[in-house]
Amino acid sequence: MQNDTVHQVPPVSKQITTEPTHQAMRKPYNSVLAAIGNTPLVALDFASQGTIYAKLEYLNPGGSLKDRSALFMIEQAEQAGLLKPGGTIIDASSGNQGIATAMIGAIKGYKVIITVSEKISKEKMDAIRSYGAQIIVCPAIEKIEDPQHYHSQAVALHKSMPNSYMPNQYFSTLNAQAHYKLLGPEIWQQTHGMITHFIAGAGTCGTVSGAGRYLKEQNPNIKVIALDAETSYRATGGNPKPYKVEGIGIDWDTPMLDLNVIDEVLPVSDANAFAMLKTLAHKYGILAGPSSGAVAWAGSEYAKQLKPTDIAVMMFGDSGRAYLSKNLYI
Ligand SMILES: Cc1ncc(COP(=O)(O)O)c(C=O)c1O
Repeated sequence: MQNDTVHQVPPVSKQITTEPTHQAMRKPYNSVLAAIGNTPLVALDFASQGTIYAKLEYLNPGGSLKDRSALFMIEQAEQAGLLKPGGTIIDASSGNQGIATAMIGAIKGYKVIITVSEKISKEKMDAIRSYGAQIIVCPAIEKIEDPQHYHSQAVALHKSMPNSYMPNQYFSTLNAQAHYKLLGPEIWQQTHGMITHFIAGAGTCGTVSGAGRYLKEQNPNIKVIALDAETSYRATGGNPKPYKVEGIGIDWDTPMLDLNVIDEVLPVSDANAFAMLKTLAHKYGILAGPSSGAVAWAGSEYAKQLKPTDIAVMMFGDSGRAYLSKNLYI
């Protein structure tokens, strides 16, 4: 009788760990580039009613939500004849678009130079270098117009270097278009058109405005929530102060802040964003980066007001592995 007990089929909720049929099967790809996107949604029990999913962007090959936008912008430039074989791609980044660009440049055979602020994690700088790209570390200056700012330095370098191309993720609206064309439809299909809330961090605003626009076109009632840093340029009315969360923070007049799409821009403190990180790792097994902590904080607030049929999707932008040296998890 003992054996019968051992071999009893466990309840459905307990058997979902290793069965391959429970995962979306991916066909084999002939390039890492084809493996970009189609990241999973994982339900978190933040809400007593409704469903709230984390979209785990760290499962992209480059480890973040920036793989789609970097690939789209580079391929648009190739098609337009702006980026030619033997060319150099230059861009400014808070790390992740730089990592994605370095990865894609390696595969496609372009030289890549990324300018970053000294405030970004060592792990992200090392990742860019590890794909064979060059990195230029610039002082942590708040005002984007300052010639020492990492965006200004990328522009100057691009102007001085022949056969170079700058995707310009901070000002080119192709960034938002990437998320409109790729991320929006992905989330719509994954939720079978049932999504009611979209919650995403805002840096360039490409993710939240691009995917948000696609989702709102399908259903204008979907609520789109953007997470800004509490002391960003926008949140302080033009008097920014340093903050620690990387990737989010509206620090210039970005052409991608689409307030026709975004219902609410929520400022979040470093403390609130960081406070979520241990819970995500220790309780849910999700080792996510600080911007995901900010999004999770907003998700946990919104979870209180969800209706039983509501489905919220939170963008978890990257992995905590890129921030281990910042001692946020132990
Ligand atoms: C981890 C992470 N989350 C969120 C964002 C914000 O995305 P977006 O620039 O599309 O607004 C970024 C941007 O770099 C990021 O790296």
